Amino acid sequence: MIVYLNGKFTDNAQATVSVDDRGFLFGDGIYEVFRVTDGRLFAADRHLRRLARGLEFLEIPRTAALDDAALVAAAQRLLQDNALTRGDVLVYLQITRGAPGPRAHQFPSPRTPPTVYLAANPYTPPEEVRARGASVVTTPDIRWGRCDLKTIQLLPNVLAKQKAVTAGAFETLFVRDGVITEGASTNFFAVVGGVLRTHPANHHILPGITREILLEEAEQIGVSVVPTAITPKELNGAEEGFVTSTSADVMPVVRVDGRPIGGGEPGPVTQRLHGSLRARLTTPAPAPARSV
Ligand code: PDD
Repeated sequence: MIVYLNGKFTDNAQATVSVDDRGFLFGDGIYEVFRVTDGRLFAADRHLRRLARGLEFLEIPRTAALDDAALVAAAQRLLQDNALTRGDVLVYLQITRGAPGPRAHQFPSPRTPPTVYLAANPYTPPEEVRARGASVVTTPDIRWGRCDLKTIQLLPNVLAKQKAVTAGAFETLFVRDGVITEGASTNFFAVVGGVLRTHPANHHILPGITREILLEEAEQIGVSVVPTAITPKELNGAEEGFVTSTSADVMPVVRVDGRPIGGGEPGPVTQRLHGSLRARLTTPAPAPARSV
């Protein structure tokens, strides 16, 4: 597999990062995951906007290597070089504050080049789970106060996802102050009393690109949306639940901590929204959009 690291396209076995890298030492970096369908980066402009916000908050200087066009060009070359121009692919992009060494918490000189890494991997969407619906479990949300930033510090998310795997579930939902914030790597939605609800986009959740697109789609197909968080207790009376992400698309949730949601099978609103998202994923963006 050919990967991109700091301006070079090399085999992943040859691509190595310094032990002084601040991503390795401090988790000092930001990342994105792009969905690619038949060679087209989906919603690239939205992912790049979120990345720009993250870089700005982290105060990582925007060198030429971090230019949107340079990052998209690197992603596209990876698709070509790895023969990934057909089917479903995920492109991972990570930027850290570089490898100045020796270890010191404060920012290094602003002239320190960032570490830029991109990889493209073929991806099989979880269609079997989608057909029957997913089980999820819950866990306290022990994350920091800026979950809206897509930083590479993911230890609470790693522990939460492992909890799901150990329980034989698809995802773990975080609960903070009595409400469901989001999943370990997904946003959460429920249909309660005929209304589609999800946690508002504040510092406690990642503003998911799939979430954003789904909210637009819901409006288009006449589903009423109220961006209000859901309590675990409310799920007992909910008609439907689902999680969304770049890799999971719209994944119906039919069980939470062992209790069924609605009829215990994927619901109609969930299925319609999944259909809308699939249509957008498989339709080429109209020119001159940047989501090439
Ligand atoms: N995860 N919430 C969290 C905590 C996430 O990590 C993700 C994405 C999402 C969904 O965001 P989007 O729709 O933009 O993918 C919500 C990615 C895919 C990951 O870490 O692999």
